[in-house]
This record gives sequence, C-alpha cells and structure tokens, in this order.
Amino acid sequence: MRIKVFTLFPDMLRAMLSESILGRAIERGLIEVELFNIRDYTLDRHRSTDDYPFGGGAGMVMMAQPIVDAIRANTGPDFRGRRIYLSPRGRTLTQRTVEALAREEELVLLCGHYEGVDQRALDAVIDEELSIGDYVLTGGELGALVVIDAVARLVPGVLGSDASPEDESFTTGLLEYPQYTRPADFRGAKVPEVLLGGNHAHIAAWRREQSLEITRERRPELLADAPLDDRDRDVLERLQRHTAVFSILTSCSVRCERLELRLADQFPKRWLSAFVPEDRRKAAKKPCLSGRRHVGFLWRAFTEGFIDGCAEGDAARAAWFDRAPDHCLLYLPDERLLYRTEGAIPSEALKRLGQAVLADEALTRTFVRTGKGDIGPWYTALSAQV
Ligand SMILES: C[S@@+](CC[C@H](N)C(=O)[O-])C[C@H]1O[C@@H](n2cnc3c(N)ncnc32)[C@H](O)[C@@H]1O
Repeated sequence: MRIKVFTLFPDMLRAMLSESILGRAIERGLIEVELFNIRDYTLDRHRSTDDYPFGGGAGMVMMAQPIVDAIRANTGPDFRGRRIYLSPRGRTLTQRTVEALAREEELVLLCGHYEGVDQRALDAVIDEELSIGDYVLTGGELGALVVIDAVARLVPGVLGSDASPEDESFTTGLLEYPQYTRPADFRGAKVPEVLLGGNHAHIAAWRREQSLEITRERRPELLADAPLDDRDRDVLERLQRHTAVFSILTSCSVRCERLELRLADQFPKRWLSAFVPEDRRKAAKKPCLSGRRHVGFLWRAFTEGFIDGCAEGDAARAAWFDRAPDHCLLYLPDERLLYRTEGAIPSEALKRLGQAVLADEALTRTFVRTGKGDIGPWYTALSAQV
C-alpha cells in the first residue's frame, strides 16, 4: 500500500508517522507514506499557495495551480488508486470505507487548509471527498492521519496478530464488548467471573451478548445491517422486553433501596442509576475505571450509606429482608436486580403493572428467605402486559 499525502504542513504528519505501530509498519515497508509539500510546486517568487475568495467572504482559499501540479507530477498515467480530498463536505469515513480503501494499491490524500481548496483543483485531480466527522478542523492533516492509521491496521502484518482487527468495533457490525486485563481485582472492581473461567464458549457468548447490548444502547441503527443469528435475535428480544419493563418501573417513581449485585455487571448502567435517587447519585459518584463502573458505583453508594441497603449473596439478602419484612420487593428479569418500594406501590403504578406484582409479593418473600423460588411466572405475566 502506497499513500501520497499533499499538504502545506508535512511536519504535522511526520511525528505521528514515525511512532508506534505506524512507525514500525513504515519502517518494515508494509506501507509506504510519501509527504509532498504543495508549496514546492508554486510558480511565483513569493511561493503563494492561497488567495482571497472570489465573491468575497472571510479567509483564504488554496489555489488550484500548486495542488494540480503537485498531484499530477506525482501520479503518472499508470496511477491505480483513489485520490481523496479530506473535507467536512465529504462522505463520512466508516469502517466499510476504510476496508475499501485498504484494497487500493495507492491512495492520494489532499489536505486542505484555511477556507478550503479552489473547486477547479478538486474537479481536476480528486476522485472523492471524505470527511472524518461532522465537525470542522483547521486543516486536513489530522484527517489524513486518521485515514492512514485506519487503513494501515488492515494491511496484513501491520498489527501483531492477523486476527486482531477482526472482532473490533464495526468490523463485526457491532460495537466491541468490554475488555479487561490484569489485575483481576483492581481496587475492588473485579473482572467478570466468566472471563476467568477459561470456558471459551461461555466467554464468546458473554462477549457477543455484551456487544449486542452496548450496540443496542449506543448505536441501535447499526443493528439493522449487522449479521445476526437466531441466538442474537433472542438476546435482543430479551433486552427489548427488559427495556419495556424498565420504562414502566421508572415511570412508577419507585425509589431504589436495595440492589442485588450478583449479576449486576451485565446490567446497563442507566438502568441502575435511574433507580438511585438523584441527590444520592451525585454524592456517590466518583470516577471509576472499568466496564463494571456501575457496580463499583453502586457498591460505593451502599458502603458510603447513599443507598439504604445492598447485599450480595443469599445470606446477606435474608439478613436484610429480616430487617424490613413489610416492604414490597420487586425483581427485574433474571434475578438481576431487586429493589423495594417504601410501603405499597402507588395505585396508579399498580394499574400499569397489573396484579402480577401483588401476586408476587408472597413469592418474592419466599424467594428472598430461602433462596429458592421461581420468578418466571411473575416476569411472564408482567412482560405480557407491555
Ligand atoms: C477550516 S476547514 C475548511 C472548511 C470549509 N470552509 C467548509 O466549511 O467546508 C480547512 C480544511 O480542514 C480540513 N477539514 C476540516 N474539517 C474536516 C473534516 N471534518 N474531515 C476532513 N477534513 C476536514 C479540510 O481539508 C479543509 O479544507
């Protein structure tokens, strides 16, 4: 892969291109990046590259002549590749575009500056305009570096392991699952149990589910084009039901008093924070690194007394329940979250929740006391109503 960059500020790119993975890839000849200073192709004695815009307006426009001559002089008739102008007006760069660019033999990247480039240069020597996002930069150099970096890592051999790019965000059509490294316990924040067990099938299933959940939460539009199998669709359907139940429960203005943390690390953070009263949430919030951020946050919230009760394990659950036997306990699906209301559930909320909650009160108590019980019927009844 050969990339030719045309810029007024080649030094802006040099530092990035000499370090780390890109630097090594260039050194090993896996990619070749050539920098051309557009100013070297000016014809007047002042070496002018820009001038005032015809028709008035602020700023300067890069002149056509040095750009056209620079690109023509360095891309002969046998040039096989794409000539790209980095521009906020362009098509937005995506991983699919990057994959297509990585299949080209050669790329030309033209970096604009000031107010942009004379349209006649673009008409003469550019095939396509690409934007790196919906914002405006001072110049195209950062955009060119983004393209080079994203394309280079798809060139075989550039990354240590050939498998590395394959399960990244976007490549699979989904956003990536959370990653963890040592130590397994970082200041009380633990790595999810499943990743330590060594069962590759379980790990793959957990990661897939996390990817689906994160994508659904942050970039739901990606799911439309992502390759999904039946299991994925089941997971998404379950998440959808959770969300429906969740929105009913949040609209009931139920206060969170107690949380079951056992499986809470699989829980979207916004679910949990929604149940913690605002005044306590703010006070409890501290920076916490790791994908289990919400668990850490809740645990701290509990230990610092910002939420009244919080327990892990059956014994702790039973002990807590003994202290507050009259509260109504509600489960969210899969025993993941347990909370109680203060006294009765408001009648308006009950109407929407249906009788399932009342019926479940006894069941819930049994379950909490003994660790046995089946929340299935309650959840089925509840989700049937949403
Ligand atoms: C200040 S910008 C010019 C913006 C231009 N007047 C407009 O409104 O579209 C200067 C140069 O930065 C580069 N640039 C700015 N934003 C960019 C983006 N989002 N993606 C790629 N290049 C960008 C382009 O090369 C552009 O010529």
